[in-house]
Amino acid sequence: MKKLLVTTGGGDCPGLNAVIRGIVKRASREDDWEVWGSYEALNGLMEEPTRLIKLEEKVVSGIHVLGGTIIGTTNKGNPMSLSEKQPDGSIKKISRIPWIVDRMKSLGFSAVINIGGDGSQAISQAMFEAGMPVVGVPKTIDNDLNSTDFTFGFQTAVQTATDSFDRLVTTASSHHRVMIMEVMGRNAGWIALYTAIAGGAEICLIPEIPYDLEKVVERIKSRYNNGRGFVNIVIAEGAYAKEGSITSSVGEEGRHGIRLGGVCFTLSQQLKDAGIEADIRETVLGHTQRGGTPVAFDRVIASVFGVKAMELVLEEKFGQLVVLQNNDYTSVPIKDAISAYHVVNPSDTLVQAAKGLGISFGD
Ligand code: F6P
Repeated sequence: MKKLLVTTGGGDCPGLNAVIRGIVKRASREDDWEVWGSYEALNGLMEEPTRLIKLEEKVVSGIHVLGGTIIGTTNKGNPMSLSEKQPDGSIKKISRIPWIVDRMKSLGFSAVINIGGDGSQAISQAMFEAGMPVVGVPKTIDNDLNSTDFTFGFQTAVQTATDSFDRLVTTASSHHRVMIMEVMGRNAGWIALYTAIAGGAEICLIPEIPYDLEKVVERIKSRYNNGRGFVNIVIAEGAYAKEGSITSSVGEEGRHGIRLGGVCFTLSQQLKDAGIEADIRETVLGHTQRGGTPVAFDRVIASVFGVKAMELVLEEKFGQLVVLQNNDYTSVPIKDAISAYHVVNPSDTLVQAAKGLGISFGD
């Protein structure tokens, strides 16, 4: 039997289990493959004793509707750059990738499918370059991976955000308030943009269009002056004012060593300082966007990605990432997908359409 190792790395995301199930179901249609999962990304493989699980059809039965990942995940400790204490006491950053590849091979694994976002796919590429046959599957609610129209998990995050937004609209209108809802997305404004259009926001602030506070204030005042006495704002966690900077806690773990969050409070204060007299309330959706059962579209993308990834393994097309391009499921070299982020282009049709709907981006 040939052995395939499956890992889920980085932040969790609705649809991870559907990918795992897709891989296992497709593999079970072959006679000569068995599938194993490593707990918490590569941790389960690296530990002694290992923490691995044989993923048979009965183990993955029905899991496509479950949020999270049955094999766990972690976004801590990058194996490409781990701290190692030197004999003189100093700390040196080393890559464990060659060791990991050796270990995979010594445990009898012929191939790996790594499900994860940009950080995890950089690890996929490093393992591939070190001689491990690897296929990647793009995951993240942020939708910021290059080369794919959508990552799975994004649609669920947008649905969760839109449901919350709808609830905030009725309370905003009853109290004539300004409601600011902060969504995730890191340095990409996709979740905010889709939610603003789906929910009918008055204002949408995204990292790709640093906002002019005066324009935001103007829009709020004009709504109140026109007798529409409430305003709903969607703000992406990575958004910032033209003259300002991102709101984050520095020094914590995460991409670029910072954790985003709290910009809705920054904006709230800016609006108060600029003379907005209406009541302002802030809501940070946070990890609610990452949890829960995936919506149907994410289950479909994730399941197809899982099947396709297994087929790439069978065809021995390694170093590839499965992607969705123009409604077609295909693959691209992992290194192309991680060469740049997929962010909102301010001249995109979607942004222009949002403006056509009267949504202000504060520009
Ligand atoms: O990348 C996914 C994401 O949810 C981002 O939108 C967010 O900034 C970050 O992860 C949060 O990470 P953590 O779960 O480590 O707080």
